[in-house]
Amino acid sequence: MSRDVHVIDHPLVQHKLTLMRRKDTSTKSFRELVHELSALLAYEITREMPMHEIEIETPLEKMKSRVIDGKKVVLASILRAGNGFLDGMLQVIPGARVGHIGLYRDPATLKAVEYYFKMPHDMHERDVIVLDPMLATGNSAVAAVDRLKQTKPRSIRFVCLVTCPEGIKTFHDAHPDVPIYTPAVDRGLNEHGYIVPGLGDAGDRIFGTK
Ligand code: URA
Repeated sequence: MSRDVHVIDHPLVQHKLTLMRRKDTSTKSFRELVHELSALLAYEITREMPMHEIEIETPLEKMKSRVIDGKKVVLASILRAGNGFLDGMLQVIPGARVGHIGLYRDPATLKAVEYYFKMPHDMHERDVIVLDPMLATGNSAVAAVDRLKQTKPRSIRFVCLVTCPEGIKTFHDAHPDVPIYTPAVDRGLNEHGYIVPGLGDAGDRIFGTK
């Protein structure tokens, strides 16, 4: 199957990501940048969504014009850092529904354990965009998509800010059919499971908790 990785190389995206990576970027700036960047990412991710024609009437005449197929898109945020993407994405896809997936890592087994899962109805008619800024070990992303697939959505895409070869491999070994959209594929993981050079702990930087 496809194992697609779309690296979003747009200059505005790359410029904003560079500013976010800097360790002296404040919480306020980081949050503003993640907001701006996620709107740009939403634009790229939705580029190939299926469309169909409907008949409308302009002030001058009738015409056929295109709209996105199916029910509204679902933004599925992996708590908590995924929430940082929501406002920017909703600016571009204002009708989207929002689902949440809460996972924690069991310290004994190191496996992802679900503590919260809430999605809209009729998932089989919806396209899901999974939000998690850092695709690092890939374990929580795999668990989130495992769970999402049980709801049988029409399609799933995964979006992050930064990933690395280990995260991509783990994710695509489990879910080769789910394309990854990312502005950056970094060198790798350090011994604590952080992406290097990365940008640190995305949740802490978005919410100012460190
Ligand atoms: N989560 C983060 O927030 N940052 C990393 O580098 C890895 C996981």
